[in-house]
Amino acid sequence: MTQDLKHIVEANGQEQVFKFWNTLDESEQDQLFRQLEEIDFANLNDLVQEYVLQKPETHIPEDLSPAPYFPLEPEDKKQQKLYQQAFAAGEKLMHTGKVAALTVAGGQGTRLGFDGPKGTYPIAPVSKKSLFQYFAESLRRASVKYGHDFTWYIMTSKLNNQPTQDFFEKNNYFGMAPENVIFFVQGTMPAIDYDGKLLLGEKDSLALAPDGHGGTLLALRRSGCLEKMKKDGVEYISYFQVDNPLVSVINPLFVGLHAKENAEMSALMLAKTGPFEKLGNFCVSDNKLMIIEYSDLPDELTEQRNEDGSLKFIAGSPAIHVISRKFVEKLTSEGRLSLPWHRADKKIPYINSDGMKVTPEEANGVKLESFIFDALPLAAHTMILEGDREEEFAPTKNKTGVDSVESCREMIIERDARRLECAGVKVPRRENGTTAVEIEISPLAVMDDEDCVNYCRANGITEIVDNGKPVYLK
Ligand code: UD1
Repeated sequence: MTQDLKHIVEANGQEQVFKFWNTLDESEQDQLFRQLEEIDFANLNDLVQEYVLQKPETHIPEDLSPAPYFPLEPEDKKQQKLYQQAFAAGEKLMHTGKVAALTVAGGQGTRLGFDGPKGTYPIAPVSKKSLFQYFAESLRRASVKYGHDFTWYIMTSKLNNQPTQDFFEKNNYFGMAPENVIFFVQGTMPAIDYDGKLLLGEKDSLALAPDGHGGTLLALRRSGCLEKMKKDGVEYISYFQVDNPLVSVINPLFVGLHAKENAEMSALMLAKTGPFEKLGNFCVSDNKLMIIEYSDLPDELTEQRNEDGSLKFIAGSPAIHVISRKFVEKLTSEGRLSLPWHRADKKIPYINSDGMKVTPEEANGVKLESFIFDALPLAAHTMILEGDREEEFAPTKNKTGVDSVESCREMIIERDARRLECAGVKVPRRENGTTAVEIEISPLAVMDDEDCVNYCRANGITEIVDNGKPVYLK
């Protein structure tokens, strides 16, 4: 190990990381060395001061107001025309290869309690296709529809990159051309204890955690993906989270409006189901758009109502964005990105000074993450479009209850039943209005209402019969 790095580490009071150095073999030493080499220690000290030794208060600006947005249904003739033009422009951008899809899948998915990358979870209600397969097939259908093979960028983390790639390989990339599925790995941040010391996860490794989905931007540059997008002529990135199979993987109206409004970063919004739904809130301060997390917006603002009784801060974020490639280039041009960090207090397993692995029962330290939506205030122009919750958003965060595997599967069934009904198909329903049969339509066959009409006509489907068995249409 170079003495330089050793001195730097010691001068910054982090010598505990060398506690077991002399017991490590050469490759183990090499691993720890490389991890330490990646840390900017001057910056680390600042972070410790700002985020660890004190609990940073989220600053809520005085002038905070709800963000304006384009409504789901156009409000007048002029807006209707704008939407029609934007839709056509979006379709053209897709057809001419200007749009790529990007999924953030580097998170640890702890709430789901599933051992493996979240994208490998068998989410589809009948076929039990995984989240990744569901997205891949949606993209394949979009590729056929728009006459262009979309590239799909998938951000993983060091913790799940290999199992994610293995999953795709084992499943032949779910029918996509392997060269159109690009994996890139996000950065990591070391976990820090409450005294500001770096924790060892193993004797030869720091306790490292993914650096948050804000890490997407820098990881795109560092991995060469940004360069590849430019070479391929990609101008717009359709960004979504791995936990939401209902998302329209590339949405022509959303992309088209983003382009027409000259936005650098855009966001889909949903009307919240109630003041405390766990969605980030779209707000404006000093003419800048920002998202304030549900946990940070003060209750008195969260519960504020308009005269007609509707929520003032109604706009929630399903974390679906269009981001211009040039905006990412601009933000990362100096090889770094200054998004704020967010502190999460966690139970972090660590190696104690006796060399024993400890799994704490209480939070013992801090993980720092950056969030992609903190790039919104940095954009010169932004755009928000209201989405249709039932068509766009079924997050899989927990096993049961709200935002769970159960609720997600129900929403897929209801969306597919609705599409069939739109196509004139009779669907059995219970007295309470819910679909009586488990129905799933393959995303390879149908990606929107128009597809469903054609599919049902081509296959002579006029009625779904309830014979006690789930129905899978492929
Ligand atoms: C997130 C948003 C919230 C939004 C909600 C919609 C944050 C902090 N909040 O909440 O505003 O309303 O989704 O469902 O994100 N990920 C990475 N790398 C990381 C961390 C996360 O790729 O280092 C990915 C995950 O794989 C997942 C997504 O980011 O796809 C969201 O992460 P998660 O921690 O589940 O966010 P939520 O708290 O559910």
